[in-house]
Amino acid sequence: MSITVKVRVPGTTANCGPGFDAVGIACTIYSELELGLSEKGTLAIEIEGEGKGHIPTNKNNIIYQAVQAVLDRVGKPYQGIYLKLYNKIPLARGLGSSAAAIVGGLIAANAATGNTLTKEEIFSMATAIEGHPDNVAPAIFGGITISVMQGNQPTYLRFMPEKELNMIVAIPDFNLSTHTARQVLPDTIAIKDAVFNISRVALLIGALCKGEFHHLRYALEDKIHQPYRQQLIPGMRQVFNAAVDKGAYGAALSGAGPCLIAFTESNCDEIGVAMVQAFADSSVKAQYVILTIDAEGAKVVK
Ligand code: HSE
Repeated sequence: MSITVKVRVPGTTANCGPGFDAVGIACTIYSELELGLSEKGTLAIEIEGEGKGHIPTNKNNIIYQAVQAVLDRVGKPYQGIYLKLYNKIPLARGLGSSAAAIVGGLIAANAATGNTLTKEEIFSMATAIEGHPDNVAPAIFGGITISVMQGNQPTYLRFMPEKELNMIVAIPDFNLSTHTARQVLPDTIAIKDAVFNISRVALLIGALCKGEFHHLRYALEDKIHQPYRQQLIPGMRQVFNAAVDKGAYGAALSGAGPCLIAFTESNCDEIGVAMVQAFADSSVKAQYVILTIDAEGAKVVK
């Protein structure tokens, strides 16, 4: 017997300035995954879109590993595994492509085997595979999420702002691995920097919850990861300034970068063009996309 399911998973932006490893937002950019399971057969993986020719199509594929983790956990040893990915989320740019891959594999395999795992169990498995919860939470639950680790167990709170918020993402034409972007971080930070971030992340969540977006100007500031990662992204500060000059409330590194993300209610194209120009002034080719918040998170579409 063979079973086929299709899931859609949003890309995500993590950190949002001060909320390092804790805050994430699901964005209206997606990857779709088709999973076929049969008792006999082998592994076959096809990739369309972002990552075609780069994403492994063997057992090193992270989607396959996520699928297999569910099959092992629920005791369904399928031999024939067919995966087809239609991906619009750029790889290694800070838009949660690996979280989307992991979540897609887990949700698809769960749906194909009778939905025995809860979304909370999927969240826990996805966090263990990804290593941090801030991208996988919004990929699963949609909206804006705050994730907290209790030992090895993640927990989360999800909400949607009262008003619509646009996110302009400048996507430079180079990759940056999360591993590299974490290696430049210090082991310890000064208490004044911790206080700087604690106050801003509290303001950020309040401002997003209540739709008081004007607070984002200061609420997106950060002292614990962006200043260290700036050396990896030529023109980062200039791109932030260009976005604010054109009317954005503020801007931040998207996840570990190198994408930069500006938050606004208006002037989307003007902001995007200015961000791309500021990157060009630092000899970096870039393009921009205009996204909003995805409220649904990962869902089975077939
Ligand atoms: N919170 C993570 C980081 C997100 O900034 O390293 C990257 O996926």
